[in-house]
Amino acid sequence: METGSNMAPKSHLRPTRRAALLGLLSATAIASPGLIAPSIPAEADFSLELEPPLRSHMRQSGIRYGCAGAAPNVQSDRNLLEKFAIEANIFVPEGALKWATTEPKPGKFDFSQGDSIAEFAARNGMLVHGHTLVWSAALPQWASDLTTAKEARAALERHISTQVSRYRGKIWAWDVVNEAIEPGDRLENGYRNSVWLRCLGIDYVDLAFRLARDADPITPLTINDYEIEYDTPSSRSRRQALLALLQKLRDRNTPIDCLALQSHLDASENFDRRELTAFLHSVIGLGYRLMITELDVNDYNIPGSDAERDVAIARHLDEYLDIVFSVAKPVSIATWGLSDRYTWMRQIYKRKDGLQLRPLPLDTNLNRKRMWAVLARYLAG
Ligand code: XIL
Repeated sequence: METGSNMAPKSHLRPTRRAALLGLLSATAIASPGLIAPSIPAEADFSLELEPPLRSHMRQSGIRYGCAGAAPNVQSDRNLLEKFAIEANIFVPEGALKWATTEPKPGKFDFSQGDSIAEFAARNGMLVHGHTLVWSAALPQWASDLTTAKEARAALERHISTQVSRYRGKIWAWDVVNEAIEPGDRLENGYRNSVWLRCLGIDYVDLAFRLARDADPITPLTINDYEIEYDTPSSRSRRQALLALLQKLRDRNTPIDCLALQSHLDASENFDRRELTAFLHSVIGLGYRLMITELDVNDYNIPGSDAERDVAIARHLDEYLDIVFSVAKPVSIATWGLSDRYTWMRQIYKRKDGLQLRPLPLDTNLNRKRMWAVLARYLAG
């Protein structure tokens, strides 16, 4: 079973920029020309506010910190943009590079949001994490309506090669395939029911990675998935299905560098420490590196005041990162947002007591929370 890195194609250690981005070579600090000057928030907890920003730890540990956000040309919150620049050395477009945004009509591309992000990132010494090329969601209607293998293949070819070539040299990693697993769909092997699976079978995953690799030979490529952490039947079947898929892709020499763990955590759940550790060891054994790509900690189901929930959230995150780091240091940790002011979770989860969710490292006033301190500790390596 532990076929190990022998199975990994030779290209895993080449060329050097990809190896360097993955931390396989010595990590170099990213220059940060034009970094926006820090501002000290009014209600700052000074013991945390005086700490160095999360991005600074990369120099010592090699682990980058990223956060997701909207494109600066649609994001009017300048204070938040300042915080991104202060804390993060990776910017993750939350929606700007999804298919529905970049190719709303067949062959008619719109990169205005992506370009705004690339420009913002370059100005602030950040790298851009490309999210995402192939997903079942955020598709324009025309793509969801594809019915034949020929049409689906042509759409993937055009979309991936156009988008990846356009941002070559500006993207530090691409989430090529997002959420390929959904045992709840009750299809063979726990694969998610998507237009891509229906038209092409599971071969669409291999195809997508080969197209991405052809368009950009050096940027690390990830397969991104979620809910594999817990001691629940759902997490168990997801771990099983994902590992089997990763094994299959290795057997085919599919050019994938990393398993990206979305890590949308739920503070009311229990980790399956033993099983999660074994799963991550198997993934590493297959020659994949780990990234944490969409971290947040949901507190919709736990009682208590803001301060009490912040403690529970920090503990939960600490336990999770302890498990991951006990297996391997991830290449990067990105949170899905930076401040509780903007979190996708608010649209989905409502607390019964009406209190706001607190899933991110900064509170709604952009002050650092306990969760921030946990991240700082692990990012320092
Ligand atoms: C979410 C965005 O945050 C929302 O703004 C959008 O409405 C839906 O998508 N997993 C992913 C992300 O891979 O792309 C999702 O982002 C959150 C779950």
